[in-house]
Amino acid sequence: MWYTFLKMATLRYLTAGESHGKALIGIIEGIPSGLDLSPSDIDADLSRRQVGYGRGGRMKIETDRAEILSGVRWGKTLGSPIAILIVNRDFQNWSKGMSPDAEDDGSIPSVTSPRPGHADIAGAIKYGHRDVRNVLERSSARETAMRVALGAVAKKFLRAFRIMIGSYVLQIGGICIKGSEAQGAKGGSRSSPGLFSNPRSLESLHKKAEKSPVRCPDPDAEKAMIEAIDSATASGDSVGGVCEVFATGIPIGLGSYAHWDRKLDGRLAHALMSIQAMKGVEIGLGFAMSARTGSKVMDPIFYSRRSGFYRKSNHAGGIEGGVTNGMPIIARMAMKPIPTLRRALRSVDIVTKKSVEATYERSDVCAVPAAAVIAEAMVALVIADAFLEKFGGDSMEEVRRNYVSYLEQVKRF
Ligand SMILES: Cc1cc2nc3c(=O)[nH]c(=O)nc-3n(C[C@H](O)[C@H](O)[C@H](O)COP(=O)(O)O)c2cc1C
Repeated sequence: MWYTFLKMATLRYLTAGESHGKALIGIIEGIPSGLDLSPSDIDADLSRRQVGYGRGGRMKIETDRAEILSGVRWGKTLGSPIAILIVNRDFQNWSKGMSPDAEDDGSIPSVTSPRPGHADIAGAIKYGHRDVRNVLERSSARETAMRVALGAVAKKFLRAFRIMIGSYVLQIGGICIKGSEAQGAKGGSRSSPGLFSNPRSLESLHKKAEKSPVRCPDPDAEKAMIEAIDSATASGDSVGGVCEVFATGIPIGLGSYAHWDRKLDGRLAHALMSIQAMKGVEIGLGFAMSARTGSKVMDPIFYSRRSGFYRKSNHAGGIEGGVTNGMPIIARMAMKPIPTLRRALRSVDIVTKKSVEATYERSDVCAVPAAAVIAEAMVALVIADAFLEKFGGDSMEEVRRNYVSYLEQVKRF
């Protein structure tokens, strides 16, 4: 049967929940037993997703906290599915309007003017909804809070094998961090400081970004980015940008060249592009490779007894032929400006068919810093899946044994 040919991911996860519904729910299946896990591991990333200059009022209402409902006992994973709940505090203001019960008390008027740049109009037509709220409640990026929670579990798993994931922002509203604009960060295709092959340089950029309200490691650019956000806010407009995600401590051999759907670069691109508002993904030097000659793009191979096979550059972003080559993984995403604008765009009422202004509901002006944190989660989920595929086991002990044995094999090669 056709479905027997479908690859079943080693690590599976699902999210559910509406933006103003009671809660977000997530299930992650495939995490081995014996991993230390507590809600605080997850809450730290949920808080990082909520901050960032340019966010709207909603994030002031929510203080996201994860409740672990299953799969963990006395602080250790059991190997069974881990279910997580994040309550939407704002639900108390929407309990009637978003009730699952068969009632409509009219407390919330239908949304009939779809917003350009959202799933509103196509979603309403496709699902036959006369109230666009039935679309926007699920297509909203509120859903990414649960992706961040599930990604935090994947990160905790990867940390046990010294794999670290981080991010920083390169560009907001056309303002680029030092050294990147000359190579085209404005257009999204560029070489960046992130292409350093040294994991410590990447981790240092991440640490600086952690202290910045726009996740920018360059203080001059940070100031100009904040001004760009202020100016968009003042004119009822919005801005997008570019952020970079990396993973260090990656062994050679995750993913595969052997079949298209095993290629790790393809899996990362899918995961990152699936984040709301992402319109471009690059791995390594990405689009900028296309304008260079081969000798300026490939990463020559060296060998020493101590380090084994190694590279001095990392234009490939740690992946060649769909397989990790032992260098840090570098991925970059371009986020479009936030589509809901205070200075509303033209739209058409889906009932009256009259020209109207698009609906405006409390909205972010810039969410690039938050997008970087969401990207970390998606990268963690993809790498954890590939890691378990290669070193899989039911317990952490078994995975560790498989991993150590593989590292010895690599050393002997
Ligand atoms: C962290 C984050 C926050 C967002 N906040 C908003 C927002 O406040 N208002 C809005 O209109 N869009 C926001 N978006 C973008 C929309 O969710 C997205 O553009 C929309 O769902 C359409 O999907 P698409 O841009 O991928 O085509 C946000 C995206 C992310 C990643």
